[in-house]
Amino acid sequence: MAINLIGIILSFSLVIFLQSFHQVEEGTIGLYWRGGALLKGYDEPGLHLKLPFITRAENIPILVQTEYVTNISCGTSGGALLKFERVEVVNRLKKELVWETVKNYSTKYSEIWIHNIITQEINDFCSLHTLEEVFISLFDTIDDKIRDSLEHDLNNWAPGIEIISVRVTKPLIPVDVASNYEKIELKKLEIKIEEQLQKISQTNFETSKIVAKIQAEEKKEVSQIQMQKQIAEIESQKIISEIEDETTSQRIPNLKLYSPQFLTLKMIEGIPKDSEVHYGPNVKNIFKLKIEEKQN
Ligand SMILES: *[C@@H]1O[C@H](CO)[C@@H](O)[C@H](O)[C@H]1NC(C)=O
Ligand SMILES: *[C@@H]1O[C@H](CO)[C@@H](O)[C@H](O)[C@H]1NC(C)=O
Repeated sequence: MAINLIGIILSFSLVIFLQSFHQVEEGTIGLYWRGGALLKGYDEPGLHLKLPFITRAENIPILVQTEYVTNISCGTSGGALLKFERVEVVNRLKKELVWETVKNYSTKYSEIWIHNIITQEINDFCSLHTLEEVFISLFDTIDDKIRDSLEHDLNNWAPGIEIISVRVTKPLIPVDVASNYEKIELKKLEIKIEEQLQKISQTNFETSKIVAKIQAEEKKEVSQIQMQKQIAEIESQKIISEIEDETTSQRIPNLKLYSPQFLTLKMIEGIPKDSEVHYGPNVKNIFKLKIEEKQN
C-alpha cells in the first residue's frame, strides 16, 4: 500500500518535472499561452522553465520554409476547367514580428494568408484569361503575378510573412469535364496560330515586294549611270576628234606653204629691191663683184 503510494507520488512528480520544462529547437522560437491567451515575449532555442499543465508552449519556425498549396481548381474565361496540382510558396517569418503575427492570426497564419490567397489569386487569374493564355502564352508570367499579389496583400495585412518565391506547376485539364470546351479553345488556338502564320507570310510577301522595288530602282540607277558614262565617253571622243581635226586642218595649209612655187616666190621676195638682177652664165662673177664693192 505504502509502496504503491510512493510510486504514484514519484511518477506524478516526474510528470510535473517534465511538464515544467520546454525545449525550443534551433530554427524556431518558443511562444507560450496561458488560459488560451498568448503570453508576452518569446524564448530563444534551449531549455526553458514554464508552469506545468497551465502554460502551453509551441515552437514557431523562423527559417525559410516551403508551403505547398495543392489541387486548386479553376475555370478559364472560356469555361474550361483546370486543376493546378501544386503551387510552392517559399516564405519566412520575420523574427521580430512572429509574436504579433501569431497574436493576430494564431499559429494557422499560413493557412489563412498563404493558402487562401493563393487559391483566390489562381481563380482570379483563370477567370480573366482563356485556356490558351493560362496554359501557354501567359503561363510564364503567372509566378510573378501571383507573388506580386500575395506580397501586396501580406504587406497590408500580415507584414510578418515574407515571400521569397512562388512557383506554379503546369495545370492539368480534366479530360472528361472539359473536352468540349477544350476542343473549342484549341480550335481558337489553331485559328490564332493560322492567323499568325498568315501574318508572317503576308509580311514576307510585303518584304519581297519592297526588296524587288529597291532592286529595280538600283538597276535603273545603275543603267542611268552607265548611260551617262557612255554619253560622256562619246562626248569626250567627239571633243578629241574635233581637236584632232583642227590640228590636221592647220597642218594642211602649212604643208601647202612649202610647195616649190611658194619657195621660189619667197626667194624672189628676199632679193633686195635695188639690186640688179642678172641672168646668164656670168652671174657668179657679178655677185662676186657686188660683194667686192660692198667691202671697199
Ligand atoms: C490532388 O488530387 C489528386 C487527384 O484528384 C489526388 O490523387 C491527390 O491526393 C490530391 N492531393 C491532395 C494533396 O489533396
Ligand atoms: C496585426 O493586426 C493589426 C491590426 O489589424 C495590423 O495593423 C498589424 O499590421 C498586424 N501585424 C502583423 C504582424 O500581422
